[in-house]
Amino acid sequence: MPSHTNREPPSFGELITQRLSRRSFLEAGVALAPLALGGFSAAQAAGVLNFKPIAGSVADAIVLPPGYTYDVVARWGDSFSSQLPDIDTAKLAANILLQPEAAANQNRQFGFNCDAIHFFPLDAAGERGILCVNNEYTDDAMMYAGHPGFGAAVREFVRKYPQMVAMSKAAQGVSVIEIARRRGRWSLVKDSRFNRRITAETMMDVQGPARGSAMLKTKGDPTGTRVRGTFGNCAGGETPWGTYLTTEENIQDYFGNLTGLQARTDVDAFIVDAHSRYRMWRNHSPYGWEAVDERFDLAQEPCEAFRFGWIVEIDPRDPQRAPVKRTALGRFAHEGASPIVAPDGRVAVYLGDDDKFEYLYKFISSAKFDAQHRSANRDLLDRGTLHAARFDASGSGQWLPLVYDPKGPLNAAAGFRDQADVQVKARFAAHALGATPMDRVEDVEANPRTGRVYVACTHNEQRTGESATKKYAGHDIDTGPNMANPRAPNPWGHIIEIREQRDDHTALTFSWEVFLLAGDPAGGRLVTDLKNLRPGQLDANSTYYAGYPHAADLSPIGSPDNVGFDPDGNLWIVTDGEQPDGSNNGCWVCPTAGPERGKLQRFLSGPIGAEICGCQFSPDGETLFLSIQHPGEGGTVAEPRSHWPDGPGTQPRSSVIAVRKEGGGKVGS
Ligand code: FEO
Ligand code: CA
Ligand code: CA
Repeated sequence: MPSHTNREPPSFGELITQRLSRRSFLEAGVALAPLALGGFSAAQAAGVLNFKPIAGSVADAIVLPPGYTYDVVARWGDSFSSQLPDIDTAKLAANILLQPEAAANQNRQFGFNCDAIHFFPLDAAGERGILCVNNEYTDDAMMYAGHPGFGAAVREFVRKYPQMVAMSKAAQGVSVIEIARRRGRWSLVKDSRFNRRITAETMMDVQGPARGSAMLKTKGDPTGTRVRGTFGNCAGGETPWGTYLTTEENIQDYFGNLTGLQARTDVDAFIVDAHSRYRMWRNHSPYGWEAVDERFDLAQEPCEAFRFGWIVEIDPRDPQRAPVKRTALGRFAHEGASPIVAPDGRVAVYLGDDDKFEYLYKFISSAKFDAQHRSANRDLLDRGTLHAARFDASGSGQWLPLVYDPKGPLNAAAGFRDQADVQVKARFAAHALGATPMDRVEDVEANPRTGRVYVACTHNEQRTGESATKKYAGHDIDTGPNMANPRAPNPWGHIIEIREQRDDHTALTFSWEVFLLAGDPAGGRLVTDLKNLRPGQLDANSTYYAGYPHAADLSPIGSPDNVGFDPDGNLWIVTDGEQPDGSNNGCWVCPTAGPERGKLQRFLSGPIGAEICGCQFSPDGETLFLSIQHPGEGGTVAEPRSHWPDGPGTQPRSSVIAVRKEGGGKVGS
């Protein structure tokens, strides 16, 4: 059991600080956020929260505490240019998105299904900035009249209307937009030179250990150095030098015909086997692109899928610079990429793999962050070591290096011919090293005030009550509970708190504890003592809120996904999935220190069918940017399930919102 049961984070006074002033950051053209810290105390990490929490809601609306309001900053289809109209969603029933110009227009309009948000200030006052926003995927049945949704008939629809593939490719990836605050309200700045789309067709470079690997070579790119596009972009992150990290998550859903690949006798068995841990689709994929684009047919292009599942770095201030796939950060279902500068100047990046029984990772750079010369950091993420986490029952843990070594364990006998193979097959490598299989790691972020790292595990209904070896995602795995994933099954998810040894983010050992076991505190047993969070002692209705003892003060929560921190270090959590009280997804917040550590309260409820993502604060803490993703999910153009944000009679549209206090002030205060 975890031995570190103290509830108060200690002082960080011993840390040698890398902290820079806001002024020096802005002069360097560098973003403000994830920074290492120094000299912060537990008290400073306990910012005041003083809003009236809301109850759960099933309304088709954004519900906020009294005194709060929101602006819709960018909706799917909003044009970046004064010369181009927005998508007219009133005409979706006439299938305007199948018209020849639709995809080209979408390349200059805000993308579909917004997810991660990061804010890059353009002035010292924080009144202008660039938002980088992921557009994770498309809900094609909500775009095209008559689309059959996800199923076998998709392929026939794609063949009949091949132009929809170009349109859907253009609707995902990343939207980079300039926004400005005028009289307190945020809005998109049309015609800004920063506005651009990065899509499933944007050319990008490959750097790091897998650049030029045989695993990355295709008919379209025999060099293995240039990839067309990014997709499945989920949570994200920003670097201390002011670039954006977008993450390629569910890339398996874009590739079909694994059966056809397996039937080919002329393809190296090594290539075929390397797909086994990534759950490629045996026949048709959910999106059906392979019906008209052989890149997505595994039998036609056996290695194309190895070119996805990476972290992609984008410079929001330089629209001419191509995005770069950083292969040193490994290939898996990436969710989140959260850099932080360690005391010696090297950069750690926390990375989650969102699939059942997959792993938590941390990359540590070889070189140090140069705060004075922005361009000196350009290739910082190409050299370093990727690690996977092993959580030990004692409450300590180890970061296990994913390093190729002919002497083992990651050598040819284990299925790795070189370091490139280790990066491409990171899941295999982490498993071989004995990393701990987790309950779907979503976002992972370090609290900028305390340095402690929070790992959101969204849920896992397939976690079994007893240790059991099962075939899962191409390998044998023990699906039983462990101290870091103690509940079986785990329908509501949990959050783990990590403290690196000596509060040094380059440390290879850490201590950890469960911070929150989600569910309904009033609907079951509220555990208040950490030592009782043990496998075999928890059922689906058990909860734990960092030891906070008063169930009546707490809000139920399920399926934690993205997390974020306000400038005072409070932990904000947004959700994607079922809620224990049957309400819609929303946004919650709790202190991570002080007497109210773990006192979780609901701040926002979203519209029908939506997940809530983003969770990014403006530098002054007065705006909370959130993505309202897939309102009306499960509906169709003919039968929409939501009418948010435009109101009765309209089609739903994924949108970025800016939540603020009426009359000003820090959000949550
Ligand atoms: Fe795209 Fe793991 O959420
Ligand atoms: Ca997510
Ligand atoms: Ca986040």
